[in-house]
Parts: sequence; C-alpha cells; structure tokens
Amino acid sequence: MRLGSLRERLRKLGETGRSFTEEKLTELKTGQLLTRRAFLKLMIAGSVAASLTPFAIASQRFLIPRVESLEFVDKKIGHVDDLEPNSAKTFGYPGDEQENPQYSNLLIRLKSGEYVAYNRTCTHLRCSVNYEADRERIFCPCHAGVYNPGDGTVVGGPPPRALPLVELKIDENGDIWATGIKGVIGRGR
Ligand code: FES
Repeated sequence: MRLGSLRERLRKLGETGRSFTEEKLTELKTGQLLTRRAFLKLMIAGSVAASLTPFAIASQRFLIPRVESLEFVDKKIGHVDDLEPNSAKTFGYPGDEQENPQYSNLLIRLKSGEYVAYNRTCTHLRCSVNYEADRERIFCPCHAGVYNPGDGTVVGGPPPRALPLVELKIDENGDIWATGIKGVIGRGR
C-alpha cells in the first residue's frame, strides 16, 4: 500500500471511529469468507458433476447405434474376384464408415475361399479391429483382443462377446451383398 493511500485510509478510519487493525481484521475475515465461498462453490460443482456422470455414460450408450434400431437395405460391397483367399477389405454398412466408424466392417475371404464379414467395432471398448492374414486372426490393437475369423468369436484378450456378424449373399454375377447385421454393435455383453 502506498503512503498516500495509507494516509487517506487512516483519515477515513478516523471519521468512522474504527481502528486500522479492526479494519484489517474485517478485510481478513471477508477474504476468508470469500475463500470459503469459493471452496463451497467448488464442492457443489464437484458433486453436481459426480451426480451427472451416470447420465453422461447412459447418454453415451444411446449414441451407440443398436443393431435393432438400424435399417438394413441390401448393399453391394464387392465381387467374389476382389479378394484372394486369406485376405480382407473394409466396407461401410449400413451407413458410411467415414461418417461413423461403427459402420465399418471387414469382408474376409478365408483360406478355404469362403466369404465372411463382421462389424469392426471391438466389443471391449470399441476400437476398430483388423484382419491379420499372417496369423489368420482378427486382432484389436487396443488391448490385444483376438477373434476367430471363421465365426467372429473371442479367442483371446478382454472382449466379452463375439463381433456382430454381417449377413451376406452372393448373386448369380458373383456380386457380394451385405443384407443385415446380427448382434449388437458396441461394447458390453
Ligand atoms: S478395445 Fe478391443 S481389446 Fe480393448
């Protein structure tokens, strides 16, 4: 505090009859009160946030597309000559995989020549799975989840259930069509 303003302050105190110490104590108390108020505000904000967390989780679940609520229209996703045995490619179904990664699927041609397809959303925490031809497995890089490419079931790691199966049909021209998805896209059991 500068000398000039201190003098002015003492003059005003003289008018009110309060001592400098009294004034200082009031300031301190007010400061403590504000600090306590700020603390209380923080506490309230914290408990509001904590009480909203389950709703946030619940609403996130609603944002995940549930297969039952999706509309399936047949979509051409390739041709039987597109893939060599023991290889795979991705395709979007029922929507665009660029817009929603949970619409990304794997079309796999098994070593036997048979075609299968699965949604790529890992059932553990929703990372995207890939086909690894050298190990003939579907692999999730996030926590080393492993799925059997033959039927999409879990053979290793934390995923709790099989990958959703994309239903396929092959027409007389050899075109491959996705016609639906069996199972639930997303995490959980
Ligand atoms: S997200 Fe796939 S194993 Fe965890």
